[in-house]
Amino acid sequence: MHPPVPLWRQLQAAASVLAAVRRGESATPAIARLHADVRPGAQALAYHVLRFLGRAQALRRQLANKAPPPAADALLTTALALAWQEEGAPYEPFTLVDQAVEAAKRGKDTRAQQGFINACLRRFLRERDALVAATEDDSVARWNHPRWWIAQLEREHPQDWEQVLEVNNTPAPMTLRVNTHRISREPLRQLLAAQHIASEPVGLHGLVLDRPHAVDAIPGFADGLWSVQDAGAQVAAQLLLEGLPHDAPLRILDACAAPGGKTAHLCELARHAQVVALDVDPVRCERIHQNLRRLDLTAEVRTADAGEPAAWWDGKPFDAILLDAPCTASGVVRRHPDVRWLRRESDVAQLAAQQKRLLTALWPLLKPGGTLVYCTCSVFRAEGEQQIAAFLAHNSSALLRPGPGHFLPRDGAHPEGLRDNEPRDHDGFYYAVVQKSAQHAPAPPEA
Ligand SMILES: C[S@@+](CC[C@H](N)C(=O)[O-])C[C@H]1O[C@@H](n2cnc3c(N)ncnc32)[C@H](O)[C@@H]1O
Repeated sequence: MHPPVPLWRQLQAAASVLAAVRRGESATPAIARLHADVRPGAQALAYHVLRFLGRAQALRRQLANKAPPPAADALLTTALALAWQEEGAPYEPFTLVDQAVEAAKRGKDTRAQQGFINACLRRFLRERDALVAATEDDSVARWNHPRWWIAQLEREHPQDWEQVLEVNNTPAPMTLRVNTHRISREPLRQLLAAQHIASEPVGLHGLVLDRPHAVDAIPGFADGLWSVQDAGAQVAAQLLLEGLPHDAPLRILDACAAPGGKTAHLCELARHAQVVALDVDPVRCERIHQNLRRLDLTAEVRTADAGEPAAWWDGKPFDAILLDAPCTASGVVRRHPDVRWLRRESDVAQLAAQQKRLLTALWPLLKPGGTLVYCTCSVFRAEGEQQIAAFLAHNSSALLRPGPGHFLPRDGAHPEGLRDNEPRDHDGFYYAVVQKSAQHAPAPPEA
């Protein structure tokens, strides 16, 4: 048995993740760099800090007009994010403050600010209610998202923006996609229950677990009985295959495929299909191979820019294309609480331009009568509805079929109005199902 990791070390590690995010780095590599013994605890703390960063920064500004150097500021802000709540906080505030001061004392970049951090945190403990109340009118402190993000959501989803922001600040559940080729959902559910892992069905092929577990602690991972995939993401393959013959030798393109979650689902559901999985990133392509190998599935994996078909397309049209385009990831904030702090407002337009380039380049590769599913894990309309409206306006051969449209994140707490088979707890996505008219003939080659 290893001795428990002291809280001060976990606070140092969580603060280093916050400092990395503030420098513009994603939290994932910063967490991966942490020492293994501290990593799980520090990740949980860092995620909590990122979910309450708006409030913590507002408190820090009240306690000190001028920010201390970055490492000390990250540690102070980390402690405030963990100490401000009266209920539901991971640690008792006095313990937390003592341990934060210990962390400052032991860190070479924070030692000189130990007295300052101690003074700020002790004042916070004495005046907590007044200090918290003084942040109430600050929308960034209230919602823990950047101001531009809150304004954009309010404008674009006037009925739902508050619920979306609330859901974004909750941890996401762990959801499995059952590999129905290997096992049905109910027997897998019983297999999990035998290991004391409770689960509930979600969507057509999903099981949402009562709490997250390490993948190798859940029976059946190495045997390919299931994959981890959010219920909202499980909709993609079903939508693409709807209406297509299941036993025909279809040719399907998954244009932005890595790490292969949706590719694998397509292969599981359409066993006779020839699936081409493309991604521009060679390292991420390796992950597609790994996932397919574990699930014993086959696809043709290619590393290429989907927006430059001349470099990789063999000229044979596809029956169906899935374009899961790169996006702001504004719909998966529950799983990636750093995303909101890393994005800039200008990223939305830049990514929308990239999505447009991919859509335009891939459309000619679709057979007349074929289906293209366009999706992003974004709640912003420029990456969803507006993107598709502009595409339809410029492509007379494209017809929008009924589809989910903007599928806003939900935490299952408000099931009212949902049909029985609709997933209750899922990330945010946009889905459009676009069909190419059957009469449309491909343009003749230029003379
Ligand atoms: C949202 S992720 C795809 C997730 C994947 N469909 C899944 O379900 O596991 C978007 C992917 O698009 C890839 N990508 C970005 N630009 C691309 C391009 N021009 N051509 C092909 N892939 C691209 C990224 O490397 C990234 O893996």
